[in-house]
Amino acid sequence: MTSIASQAVGIIGGTGLTTLSGLDITGTRAVATPWGAPSSELTEGHLDGQPVVFLSRHGNPHKIPPHEVNYKANIKALYDAGVRTVIGVNAVGGIHPDMTPACVVIPDQIIDYTWGRAGTFFEGEIDAVTHIDFTWPYDNATRDIVMQAARDQDVLHAGFGVYGATQGPRLETAAEIRRMERDGCDLVGMTGMPEAALAAELGMRYVCLGLVVNWAAGKSDHIITMDEIRAAIEQGMTGVRHILEASMAGLGALRALPQPS
Ligand code: HPA
Repeated sequence: MTSIASQAVGIIGGTGLTTLSGLDITGTRAVATPWGAPSSELTEGHLDGQPVVFLSRHGNPHKIPPHEVNYKANIKALYDAGVRTVIGVNAVGGIHPDMTPACVVIPDQIIDYTWGRAGTFFEGEIDAVTHIDFTWPYDNATRDIVMQAARDQDVLHAGFGVYGATQGPRLETAAEIRRMERDGCDLVGMTGMPEAALAAELGMRYVCLGLVVNWAAGKSDHIITMDEIRAAIEQGMTGVRHILEASMAGLGALRALPQPS
């Protein structure tokens, strides 16, 4: 398979980001992997002069629910296209008081509450049992670049946080959120895992941009509505796009460094 350039930046768009405006598109390709087709075609192009491969996590149009996303195919398709740094954009609920709707969170940790998802490349016909180190699930060098971009663009953001990954597709109960808060979770979403772990298994740098689209269940005086979520996406996605664009030069320089082992 030919790729636009080796070590392009992969952007996985979540809810509210099925296409990437500003991307100077050079081509769109339907690809296959040993685990089936990814959620969408790969859109290749340049963002601020840097090679980028964009993939829509829920398909385009948005129709694949979080627990049915083929995360293995998505990560492998990006890897095969030459991607070695992935930015996953995720809609999330805010638990920590700083994580208000429209805030962009760049978390530093994950707790995985998902179940039954195909979450590893190291199974089936393998040469040896492999356990990757996952102490720090997000790549710090990439987080630094993205956080600097958020500061430079004056985007409301939080540069810390534990991402609690839930199964969905329903939202949580108030008691589940209270439990997650006791566990140390600051934000909650349905798509952060196993995506981050699969990227790590292939030795890719991975970072999450979590756009807060609602207060988590029980954290406000009203129930969560799709209207509220849509409004927060509209308000916050511009900030996400600014961060992505402003990160590109820094990520280009990072490509010259060796990949994390
Ligand atoms: N919970 C889980 N996933 C989410 C939420 C939430 O409140 N908001 C957006 N994605």
